[in-house]
Amino acid sequence: MDLFKVYPLWDIDIVRAEGSYVWDNKGTRYLDMYGGHAVISIGHTHPHYVDMVVNQLKNIGFYSNSVIIDQQRELAQKLGELSGKKDYQLFLCNSGAEANENAMKLASFYNGKSKVIAMRGAFHGRTSLAVSVTDNPKIAAPVNHTDHVIFVPLNDEEALEKAFRENKNEISSVIIEAIQGVGGIQIASKEFLRRIRSLCDEYNAVYIADEVQCGCGRTGEYYASDWAGVQADIYTMAKGLANGFPIGAISIAPKFIPTFGMLGTTFGGNHLACAGAIAVADVIAEDHLIDNARSMGEYLMNEIKTMPGVREVRGRGLMIGVELFDDATELRKRLLFEEKVFVGSSGNKKIFRLLPALNITREHADAFLAALRKLLTA
Ligand SMILES: Cc1ncc(COP(=O)(O)O)c(C=O)c1O
Repeated sequence: MDLFKVYPLWDIDIVRAEGSYVWDNKGTRYLDMYGGHAVISIGHTHPHYVDMVVNQLKNIGFYSNSVIIDQQRELAQKLGELSGKKDYQLFLCNSGAEANENAMKLASFYNGKSKVIAMRGAFHGRTSLAVSVTDNPKIAAPVNHTDHVIFVPLNDEEALEKAFRENKNEISSVIIEAIQGVGGIQIASKEFLRRIRSLCDEYNAVYIADEVQCGCGRTGEYYASDWAGVQADIYTMAKGLANGFPIGAISIAPKFIPTFGMLGTTFGGNHLACAGAIAVADVIAEDHLIDNARSMGEYLMNEIKTMPGVREVRGRGLMIGVELFDDATELRKRLLFEEKVFVGSSGNKKIFRLLPALNITREHADAFLAALRKLLTA
């Protein structure tokens, strides 16, 4: 059987990893400034993570959600503390798309309404509802088309208000990435996030913060959207939550009252995924990785801004977009094959993304900066 080829692949076979480095099958070492697409939060094969997952597997790897899984409670308590939302409730699933799907569904159960406001340039995943609030017609099939979704331009308060006004009692939720990832590191303004909060309060709609990519401490806050000083009703998470073990989660405000069967999953919240996520939460707290993300991000951004060919550097913490005057495709290729550094692409060919582990050091940053400067000045 052949693979169903949906990805353009680099001709590199990664077989080993440690911290912010990965090695291919020929023994070549690469610096990972991409974090496997914002997934590697505490570094590859972190010893505490490996111990937790391996030891868990030796005891039990899976049992269904029909019994108590104490690791879920421990994870809920740790995430409540890290995010400063001890009164929120946790529902666990398996991916970012699933987290968003559950969030919009829960919102609709809550207020009995069906329309969702989403942002131009947004990416929320590939399952049916998630892809319908994603602003990319190329990845939505006819079966995904719906008239439930209203797109407004990011940071356009007038368009947002108009969407609420014109659909008076029909808006169930607003979904937004505080920093658009695939969209090319576009930042929602504080004012815009606050306006979402106040309009959701006025119209009994639910504010959903998609923190799948920008969450879990990456931007120097546990949730990037909390930067605006207002709380979302539901936060969705996935990528960095368990350092590569598949998991998704939604953190739900106390006003939502669960009923049996409202949400459900076979694999979500399994023992192994929880062990991985608990290990990540431990390391983030003990090693002060949110502070490290903030300071290393500032250092990287300030340095990159001084380089030739760079039009703009955007982002917060270790979620950084570098916009060049020209197409960045060739530069990314040369970084990978000549300098042995992974970086990420974005929806806009002129922008590449940096999404490294939150515990990168000054040495990693300097090695990357030297490689980038060399190529940009050549
Ligand atoms: C902001 C955002 N939301 C949702 C998703 C979908 O997550 P998953 O691929 O785990 O379904 C992604 C994935 O890139 C994302 O960046």
